[in-house]
Amino acid sequence: MSDKIQFPKGFYWGAATSAHQVEGNNHNDWSEWEKENAERLAREAKNKWQKWQQEKFPEMFEPENYISDRACDHYNRYEEDFDIAKSLGHNAHRFSIEWSRIEPEEGKFNEDEIEHYRKVIKALRERGIEPFVTLWHWTIPLWVRDKGGVANKYFSEYFSRYAERMAQKLADIKFWITLNEPTAVIAMAYTKGDWPPQKRNPITALKVYKTLAQAHNEAYKKIHAVSPEARVGFVNILSYIEPHNKNSLFDKLTARIAKYFSNEKFLNLTNNNNDFLAIDYYFHNRLKFPGKLKNEKKEVSDMGWELYPEGIFHVLSDLKKYKKPIYITENGLADAEDARREWFIKESLRNVFRAISEGVDVRGYLYWSLLDNFEWDKGFWPRFGLVEIDYSAKGESASGGKMMERKIRPSAYEYAKICKNNGLD
Ligand code: BGC
Repeated sequence: MSDKIQFPKGFYWGAATSAHQVEGNNHNDWSEWEKENAERLAREAKNKWQKWQQEKFPEMFEPENYISDRACDHYNRYEEDFDIAKSLGHNAHRFSIEWSRIEPEEGKFNEDEIEHYRKVIKALRERGIEPFVTLWHWTIPLWVRDKGGVANKYFSEYFSRYAERMAQKLADIKFWITLNEPTAVIAMAYTKGDWPPQKRNPITALKVYKTLAQAHNEAYKKIHAVSPEARVGFVNILSYIEPHNKNSLFDKLTARIAKYFSNEKFLNLTNNNNDFLAIDYYFHNRLKFPGKLKNEKKEVSDMGWELYPEGIFHVLSDLKKYKKPIYITENGLADAEDARREWFIKESLRNVFRAISEGVDVRGYLYWSLLDNFEWDKGFWPRFGLVEIDYSAKGESASGGKMMERKIRPSAYEYAKICKNNGLD
């Protein structure tokens, strides 16, 4: 008996990136925040990370680690990067459009930048790669920030106007993603208060659920009015949440509430305005009353995140009831040595396949990320890429390589075999 796993015909295989994390030279709310907070983040690294992480990644003590600056210079090198994706058998690619480039001032759209993204899309199509286009991967133009950002009650108007314009200008897009992981921003910026604008306030957090859901709903309608054939959705980050003690009523209640706010509430607020479900999976949370995380952490990534590939099966199974096509738009790990990436991808895919076998309509898997990139308030040290980037700033790098040299990691070749065979053993 063969143990071969064969994915459905036409399955999308590839990887994802986001504008601010790879392009370089963006001017938005994050780039400003980085300048103001880099010193502090470098100082705080000592208390934030464990000893083994501090020793392995001493860059975390350098303020420049926290400034996106040129990132991976993907804005200029996208063709080279898409050549790599093609050589690795990818037939889909997720990227985001940087709103602050398109509309740097309110209502003034920059045609040159729109042309840039047209070229990006053309470069993908020429290589037989289907674009999944995200309109908002967390960064906002400064004029939106100055009006209060995503918490402004008119945010949906600004966002949907931009979305409509993009739909008009990039008419041949099949898969539009309005928002990336709204609940991640709600949690990190408004509940924990770590990310810009660092407004820790539960009332504002609840308000942002509404403003962002409205932004999605209005953008959904406007994109469809321009492009009825296009498929539109938002990316939901789904955690696999369990009670720490399955017999404790309190733990069960804690897990239930967490699941509602993190996995379900935003989806409910989007009123069925989703042609597909897009999900990102990273976290397994075992919760103990009143909310403490109690994970086993047998295997962790460089960032200390528990590696729990089985969780993807459970989050997918929960979505079966919606009867919609599902795309996994991110799943990955920080692993500078590339020691666990192959295992992680294969185990995750075995679990995706298990969900498909049980009737969940999964149609694509996009690994995070194609390239090492700028990991938000952690900066450059976490290495998520199928492709390693040499960030040496000037001239020849310490390793003797070229500036921003791309180096394909061994796990990327293993993933390429899966993409090319549409399956694995
Ligand atoms: C985000 C990415 C991020 C990745 C790893 C996802 O939640 O969409 O921007 O780099 O997680 O943390």
